[in-house]
Order: sequence, then C-alpha cells, then structure tokens
Amino acid sequence: MVDSRETTVEDIRARNDIVEVISEFVRLRKAGRSFKGLCPFHKEKTPSFVVNPERQMYHCFGCGVGGDVFSFIMDHEKLDFPEALRYLAERAGLPPPRARAGGQTSKNDPAYRANEFAARFFQEQLKSPAGKQALSYLRKRGLSPEVIALFQIGFAPPGWNDLLNAAAREGLGTEALAMAGLVGKGERGWYDRFRNRIMFPILEVTGRVVGLGGRVLGDQEPKYLNSPETPVFRKGAHLYGLNWTRGEIGREDRALLVEGYLDLVALKQYGIENVVASMGTALTSEAARRLSRLSKRVTIVNDGDEAGRKAAVRSAEVLLAEGFRVHVAVLPAGTDPDSYVRSSGAEVFRRLVRDAPGIVNFLFREADDYESREKATREVLNLFSRIDDPIRRGWYVKELAERSGLDEKVLQRAAARKTGLPRNTPASGPRKSSADGALQAERGLVKYLLDAEMLEPEVVERIRSCEFRDAASHRLAGVLLDALKEGHRLTATEVVSRLQDRDALALLAAVSLKEDIVDEAKQIRDYLSHLRKRELRERITETKGEMREAERREDEEALRRLQVHYLDLMAEIKGLVTGLGNFERSSGR
Ligand code: UTP
Ligand code: MN
Repeated sequence: MVDSRETTVEDIRARNDIVEVISEFVRLRKAGRSFKGLCPFHKEKTPSFVVNPERQMYHCFGCGVGGDVFSFIMDHEKLDFPEALRYLAERAGLPPPRARAGGQTSKNDPAYRANEFAARFFQEQLKSPAGKQALSYLRKRGLSPEVIALFQIGFAPPGWNDLLNAAAREGLGTEALAMAGLVGKGERGWYDRFRNRIMFPILEVTGRVVGLGGRVLGDQEPKYLNSPETPVFRKGAHLYGLNWTRGEIGREDRALLVEGYLDLVALKQYGIENVVASMGTALTSEAARRLSRLSKRVTIVNDGDEAGRKAAVRSAEVLLAEGFRVHVAVLPAGTDPDSYVRSSGAEVFRRLVRDAPGIVNFLFREADDYESREKATREVLNLFSRIDDPIRRGWYVKELAERSGLDEKVLQRAAARKTGLPRNTPASGPRKSSADGALQAERGLVKYLLDAEMLEPEVVERIRSCEFRDAASHRLAGVLLDALKEGHRLTATEVVSRLQDRDALALLAAVSLKEDIVDEAKQIRDYLSHLRKRELRERITETKGEMREAERREDEEALRRLQVHYLDLMAEIKGLVTGLGNFERSSGR
C-alpha cells in the first residue's frame, strides 16, 4: 500500500551478493576468483564448496548441490521460495515482495503470522498495567530495559482468552493460532496456551518468530512451557538466541552453550555475546550442525550441579560426533550462568570460560582414586567412540592415555572396538559407464554454449540436433539455444533468471563453476560424436529388430529398405569410431 512499486525477484537478487549471504553461514576463503569453504550440505573435511561472485552461484564439487542465492537460502534455512524471498528482502532492507493470492504465499504463513502477532501482543502486555508485576519481576532479576526490548520479552496475561480475543480483533483466526500451537482445545472450546507467564519469543535467523517459551512468575510447575512442535517450529532444530549471536560466535570462533533463556539474556547484558541456549532439551545433531557452520569450538556452561554435569556429557557426545572441540566450564555448585555472571561479573566469567578444561580433563577432574579413574576412562571412551574420523579419534585417545596413564594401544583398540567395523571403506567413486559418458558429454556441450570464447555456428547447429536426455541438460541447452536463435548469447546470470527448475539451476552452477577449458575443439567433437554414437547404436538395434520382423513377414521390399538404412548407420558409426581412435575404448560400451 505504501510503496506502489513492487519488489521484484531481480531487485532482491541484485541486493543480496551471494558471497556476503553465504558468508553468514559458511566460512569462506578466497581462492582465485572464487571463494571456497566446507560444504554446509554434507560432511566434509576439505573444502569443495565454491562460491563464485561473478556468476553469483555456488556449487559443491563433493555432493553436487548448487544454485543461486535463493536456492541456497531455501536449502540451508529450509524455507520455501516465498519465504526465501522474504528473508532476502528483509536482509537487504527492501520492502517484502507482495504475496500473491494462492501463488506466492507460503503454506506456513498463518503460523508465522500468529507467532509474530502473539510476540507483539505479549510485548505490549508487558508494558501495560497488566504487566506491572511481570515487569517488576524481570527488573528484580536484573534485566535491563534494553535487553527486555532486544529479546522482545513479553507477558502473557492470566486470562484464558486474552490472546484469542486480541487476535480475533485483528482478523487473525483460531486456525492460525492453533497452527502455531498458541491455543489448545478443551471441553469448553479454545483457550490460550500461555497464561500468566513471562514470554520469550524464539526467532529463526530470518528474524521471524517460530515459537515461544514462557516462564511462570513464581514457583509453579512447569517452570517453563514452550510452543509445541509446529510446521514452523521443530524443537530439535532450533537454538535459542542464535539469531542475535551468530555474528559474535563467528568472530570469536567459539560458542558458549548454556541451557536457559535467562542465562543467555544475562550474559548478553554483561557483554558476553557468543552464546546459544539449548532450551533445556538435549542438544540434537541437527542443531549442532547448524552451529558448526559458525564455529567448531564450543564451551559448555551448564548449571553447577549434578544435573548440569550429566547434561554437559550428553551435549558433549553430540558435539564430538559432529566434529567440535569441546570444553566444559565448571560453575560453582548452586549457580547457573545467569546468577554467576551477575554475582561475579563479566571478567570473572570470561576467565572461567577461558580456563575451562577440555572434555577429557573435565571428566577426570574429580577422578582421584583407581575406581573413579576407571569410570572416567570408560566415560571418555564412550564419547570418543562416536567420533567417526579415525585421526581425530586418535588424537583424543592419545590425550586420554596421557591423562589416565593407560597404554595408548589398549585404549585405541577399545575405542575402535566400540565404533564397530572400520568405517573407512571408501565410498565407491564415480563409476565410469557409458551412461556417465553421455551425461558428461551433454553437460560438456552445455558448458560450451555457456562459456566458450567463441561459438562456432557449425558446432552450435550440431548441438541443436543432439538429443539431450538428462532433464537438466535438456532444459539448459534449450534455454541457451533458443536465445542463440534470436541472436542473443545468454550469460549464466541471465540463464538463472529464466529458470525455475531447481535441477537445471544446480547443473548450471556445476558446469559454470567448473574450471575446465571448453574451447578445445577436440573435446567438443568428442562430446558430439559420443552423443551421435549413442543415437546411432540405438537406431542400429531398432533397425535390426525391424529387419527381423520384416523377414518374418517375408516383406522383401521393407527388408531391402531397412538393409540400406542399416548399412548407412553402420558406415556412419564406423566413421565416428575410427575417426576418434582411443575415444571409443575409454568410454566403454
Ligand atoms: P532452568 O531450570 O535452569 O531455568 O532451565 P533457567 O533458565 O535458569 O530459569 P530461571 O533462572 O529459573 O528463571 C533451563 C532451561 O530449560 C528449559 C528452559 O528453556 C530453561 O530456560 N526448561 C526448564 C523447560 O523447557 N521446562 C522446564 O520446566 C524447565
Ligand atoms: Mn536460572
């Protein structure tokens, strides 16, 4: 309504440089004209994920994913296309693209709208007279007005229908609230799930509210109530606070993992900002993987009691399996990060984190007799057995040997036994078959159309007559050849804007970021003849069948015609084979 000009997909693309966007999730290093990093879509130890600023595309040479800035955000943040548009529009400070009825709106929109409405409503309530007691509770616990505002903390009033009624006044229906898990249904109909609680909105990195956590004002149970699983809130996947702290975690190259909302809020208030909270539940591998893109080093800072210690071991197990270096800070008994930073100050807290022992030393901390050392050894071995990488596991076991005084070989064997069979059977590399050869040829020709310094009209015509069977190659060749017919040579960026097809986009990224030279005439000839031979072979088989059929029918006339055709085909294929020497041999049959 305010802005008459609609934000277009191309506006959004132009304002979101792919290197900058991806850098917010993946650590990239400059490598020639591109950037390289560890692929966020599969586990790897050497970078094969390439981002190219000129092409504005990415591609992983390890797992084959690829595309443009939109597909990256869709895959990485698990958003659909309209959500990705919105994310990137917001990121660039553009007005959100207008949702088209039925078309561009996401099916999850109602849940987001309900959550966002609820978060706003609760914030208003905290500022209203109804929230007086809640606000004074928060102030008593030492929260500054700034952090209350920053974390969008609010208050759910005690009534059973306050949110329901407020939402209805805004035209937001019960269905949307239910989809977001904000209301429940009892015998007397729908009611607000969160009542008389301090509310913490849980935001995803896009800044959208996916769920909420609510703390009682006093000592009732349960102390915290969180949104249930909803289409936009998968509990295991979210880490509280990450949207505010991801930058700092990357800069410090370390995350402090705490359990509570208020731990994170308090630390932020004291200027310690590289923190995430696991929201009480055990850390999941998925959440750990999200975190690992920012830093591979975590210091667990749990409550200083037995429950905190146990939870730390569980988190450490997940983190180690995901390739993290893990330290555990030990808080004094009876404290948690929130109370400790308030009582001792940021400096003391930072020192505690800096001096936090590694996981081995943490588990051996109180092991001063034979029995507890044995117990610690087993505990550590158990953790290490989850580490897949034998080299990394080896280093840890060495550390354990030093700490426990046990023979390293014995420990290595014990750790290996627990992991089961050696897992280093190499994943079978790309097999070379003639189907692969054809695929490679199709892709090679697409790359030629896209990248060759100079297009030879004659070669283009031959490509035009080729049959592309790989769907993505077919689509790309089609787009490129169509434009050429109109005398227009498309750049990769132009192709991107004409594609909606995800596979074609991924292939475009793959071929255009591959650094092969495409102008080698011989290579192109090989590709063309490979495809031509494929066709010829199939025709020959067909023709043979038809000849047999004609013989059976005793159709002399047809048989003669087919024989001539057959000989033509044979002659052509022979010409291709002899003309290309060793090509035939290497491509197999
Ligand atoms: P804590 O009990 O340590 O809470 O639970 P806290 O954050 O220190 O809160 P205060 O200081 O008592 O106010 C840690 C986290 O575990 C989750 C919450 O996310 C909480 O922040 N939790 C805890 C629940 O989800 N439900 C519960 O009943 C308790
Ligand atoms: Mn606490």
